[in-house]
Amino acid sequence: MKAGYFNDEFPGVSGNDAAGTVEEVGEGVTNVKKGDRVLFQCWWKPADRGAFQQYCLADAATGIAKIPANLSFDEAATIPSGFATAVIGLYGEREAPMPMGRGGRTGLTAPWEATGKGTYSGPALVIGGASSVAIQLLKLSGYSPIITTASAHNEAYCKAAGATHVIDYHKVAYPDLPAAVAQITSAAVSVVYDAISLEDSQKAAWQILASRGNLIVTLPPVVGKAGADAEDGKRLVWTFGSVHDPANHTVSDAMYRALPGLLAEGVIKPNAIEVLPGGLAGISGGLERLSRGNVSGVKLVARPQETLYSNE
Ligand SMILES: NC(=O)c1ccc[n+]([C@@H]2O[C@H](COP(=O)([O-])OP(=O)(O)OC[C@H]3O[C@@H](n4cnc5c(N)ncnc54)[C@H](OP(=O)(O)O)[C@@H]3O)[C@@H](O)[C@H]2O)c1
Repeated sequence: MKAGYFNDEFPGVSGNDAAGTVEEVGEGVTNVKKGDRVLFQCWWKPADRGAFQQYCLADAATGIAKIPANLSFDEAATIPSGFATAVIGLYGEREAPMPMGRGGRTGLTAPWEATGKGTYSGPALVIGGASSVAIQLLKLSGYSPIITTASAHNEAYCKAAGATHVIDYHKVAYPDLPAAVAQITSAAVSVVYDAISLEDSQKAAWQILASRGNLIVTLPPVVGKAGADAEDGKRLVWTFGSVHDPANHTVSDAMYRALPGLLAEGVIKPNAIEVLPGGLAGISGGLERLSRGNVSGVKLVARPQETLYSNE
């Protein structure tokens, strides 16, 4: 909303990620039934599809998965967008178009495809390891070492996710990151996932990336044009983490088929969570904290059913 896009209709209900119990199913729906616990990615147009309300419509054909018993609703609700953004960025099929002016696809094989698990080797870099599930995905793909940047207090968190080396970005500024990575490995870094995508982090990532490697960014690219390979074959991918865009359906449908099993096995774990007080009333304070950079190593969760209204 602050950025001025997506919410351009009134009435509008925001909220991209949700988890809950199926209350009713539409005609012809067979993959979920009343009473199932599900997580799903929302699309906030029209308003009855936004996540920031107690009851919302989910699309049974796209972006919905049953929640295995080892996950709470709060944990499950943090998965859809973060997971989709990383998966679509890392494993989008090579020739598919990108929506909304974005571009580039890595063509890497996802770990749930027949030959995907452990198929890659060599180093990978994740910028912003505390914010993303990308470390877990790259580990499943076989990359090692997995180097990441995070605050020092999130080192254990990133290592539990699969990082082998954590560089404190408060101590090592991004212009110095290439030298810090070179001290860890002299092998070619063929994939970099930049979850933060600041100008400095993208420049460092591009410099570290090997020829014919893939850099995935989450915000507008500053080091090249998404979808247009550089002369040395470096590829810039600007991911768009929505499963609802038809251009993403091939990769995201396969991802959703695999997701319940990955979560049940524990090979993909949700990010740590913090539940906001006051239900929906807590969201504005949470957004304020996010905009000030005061959220570290957790995803914020609101429980609409706990909302206190002034007339109660
Ligand atoms: N392209 C898409 O479709 C798409 C989808 C979703 C999000 N995004 C964008 O991706 C970005 C991240 O979103 P998010 O939801 O993952 O954020 P988030 O989890 O709220 O980000 C908070 C984390 O970012 C880390 N961080 C902040 N500055 C950092 C830096 N300079 N270097 C390394 N880590 C840093 C912090 O790590 P420490 O606590 O360790 O300091 C913190 O844990 C946002 O700009 C968002 O708009 C794009």
